[in-house]
Amino acid sequence: MSELQNDRLLRALLRQPVDRTPTWIMRQAGRYLPEYRASRARAGNFMGLCGNPDMACEVTMQPLERFPLDAAILFSDILTVPDAMGLGLYFSEGEGPRFERPLQSAAAIRAIGQPDPNDELRYVMDAVSLIRRELNGRVPLIGFAGSPWTLATYMVEGGSTKTFGRSKGLLFEDPESAHHLLGVLADSVAAYLNAQVAAGAQALMIFDTWGGVLNPAMYRTFSLDYMQRIVDQLTREAEGRRVPVVLFTKGAGTRLAAMADSGADALGVDWTTDLADARTLTGDRVALQGNLDPAALYASPTAVRREVRAVLDSFGNGPGHVFNLGHGVTPDIDPDCVAAAVDEVIQYSPQFHSPS
Ligand code: CP3
Repeated sequence: MSELQNDRLLRALLRQPVDRTPTWIMRQAGRYLPEYRASRARAGNFMGLCGNPDMACEVTMQPLERFPLDAAILFSDILTVPDAMGLGLYFSEGEGPRFERPLQSAAAIRAIGQPDPNDELRYVMDAVSLIRRELNGRVPLIGFAGSPWTLATYMVEGGSTKTFGRSKGLLFEDPESAHHLLGVLADSVAAYLNAQVAAGAQALMIFDTWGGVLNPAMYRTFSLDYMQRIVDQLTREAEGRRVPVVLFTKGAGTRLAAMADSGADALGVDWTTDLADARTLTGDRVALQGNLDPAALYASPTAVRREVRAVLDSFGNGPGHVFNLGHGVTPDIDPDCVAAAVDEVIQYSPQFHSPS
């Protein structure tokens, strides 16, 4: 493997000194880019992109050709794991993800097993190796997976939900089945992430998009404990370097304090918590990643730059910050606003890293 030329992301995630704050953007490859829409049209649909390593590699590289980002993120989806468990993932236009065979009974939950990441998910590992070759050491590659709880919501609901009626209902009504499902998912995700590291992923992120909808006690029992079970099983070193792990619970708020004790190297922070407060909650235990409101990208480049400076000011001095949005970039923003955000981080952040 070629020498890594830009290791700002890996250093910042481990709270090591850097010359400026590194940046990448959640969903940086996506519909807001015309070249992505063209690739998706050629592939037929989203799963056609994910399932074809050449196309997944092509799309992963697109935002790096446009913007001076400090990381690439594997182009895939968190729902490939339940798909590999046999649930039949498909995307219907305007409706988001759906499963043909959602888990609708305790018996269905008992019947699922762990997929082999090098068999059913081979196409993801092939994409990881291909992207590493294509990157040629330019920036590190982030691998990822969904948290057990977030995956379980889609598997039990059969798709997206506003009320979490079935999935939260299961936690209250049949916690034993819920624990069984979350345990299988945690072990499956750990094996899947370790296979990504073996294929070349250099940092890992766990997306817990729906942890914030649980009450604090249930968050601990049904979401955080299972992310912890994953972190405990992960390969933490590869190619002679530590492989940093980032946990992201959307809507975490004060739960960041408990998350900082999970053994993760870094936490993603959404825009509803100030980074200064997140720093107070987590002390020196973890690095922080975030947290520009994605809606700021609907404003002018001038306003975007002002908001980026506010995020950098809020974290303040010292290492341990990776700039990002507080959640994924939305499809209808102007790519020039992403360009302005990335450039402002480069221009404004060196002052926070000067030796004092
Ligand atoms: O960040 C990146 O660039 C990497 C790619 C990535 C995708 N999905 C591609 C994608 C990542 C990290 C994800 C994670 C993901 N997928 C999450 C967790 C992060 C989050 O956003 O909260 C969740 C909940 C999913 C499930 C999922 N996949 C949903 C709800 C949707 C539909 C949303 C939408 O925008 O239509 C997807 C589809 C999806 N995954 C798209 C992309 C680029 C859009 C597909 C398309 O229409 O082209």
